[in-house]
Order: sequence, then structure tokens, then C-alpha cells
Amino acid sequence: MREDVRRLWPELEWIRDAGLREKVLETWVRAFHQSPLKPDDLEEIPFTQLVPECPATFLEHKRCVVHIARRAAEAMQQFLGSALAVDMDAVVAGAILADVGLLLEYEKADGEARPSRRRSALRHPFTGVALAMEAGVPEAVCHVIAAHSSEGDLVNRSIEATIVRHAGLMSFLPFKSGPR
Ligand SMILES: [Fe+2]
Repeated sequence: MREDVRRLWPELEWIRDAGLREKVLETWVRAFHQSPLKPDDLEEIPFTQLVPECPATFLEHKRCVVHIARRAAEAMQQFLGSALAVDMDAVVAGAILADVGLLLEYEKADGEARPSRRRSALRHPFTGVALAMEAGVPEAVCHVIAAHSSEGDLVNRSIEATIVRHAGLMSFLPFKSGPR
């Protein structure tokens, strides 16, 4: 499973702290152990259950968010670095983990992935934090997971969580809004 996760997420190598990189990988391994989804499923299922017949896959969208977040963080460092400190490892790790809890929002029936009942009680920001804390992921990164979605609107987001929140939104809203 560890090799499967490394294959899905080449962006793990962007995390400079080897200890953090290992904990992020471990979080994904734990999620797969609790999910009916297999690594290959992420290259086939739609990235969200909120858009009917969504044309982008889970992995395409989640990796895109990581790439947007990293580049946005680099731009903020380049131009605002003397005024705002951005923890690049927290941005990349947080973006890779933001939706890990989605693996627990699925169940399989007749070979098809469909929404699980757990989803209405605990959406993925909550289960994602639980998985990450079990794997020893530091609080600053758990904060990114917790605050990456609309649940985080009541939270004073860190700069890293703000970046990941907006990276997720800009790659989600065009699908939700439809063609313009
Ligand atoms: Fe999410």
C-alpha cells in the first residue's frame, strides 16, 4: 500500500521534512485501510459527489489543488515574504491531506462507489483530522485539513489554510457553476 500511495502522490517528495512526509504517507495508508476504495479507484471516480456526472477524476482534482497551492504559496513568498511567513511544508502536506477523509465517505455496492451513510454525520474535514492525528501529523497541518472546507469558515484560518482553501475553491467552483 505504501508504494501505491507514493505512486498516486509524487508530490509527497515536495515535503522537505522527512518525518512529516512519512506521517502524510501513513495517513493515506490508514485511510485506504478503512475505505472500500482501492488506489486505482482514485484515477476513475469523480472528484466530488456534489457535481452530477463530474468529468474530472478524484486524483486529477486533488493533485491540481496541491500544485495550485504550492505555486500560490511560492508567489506569496516571493512578493510578500518579508511581511508574511509561509510554511511550505504545511501548505504541501495540508493540500495532500485536505481530502484524505473523502475515502471514508464512500461505500461500494455492486462494484460501484457511492456515498456512505457516515458522510451525513462526519464530513471529510473531521475524519481527515482524525486519521492525520492518529498518524502523528502536527497540529498546523491538521488545521489545514480542518479548515480547508466551508466548515472552516468559522475558524481563523492560518495563511497555509487560506491558500489551500482557495486552491480547492478555484478548482471546484467552475465545475459547480457549469459553463458560462
Ligand atoms: Fe474537501
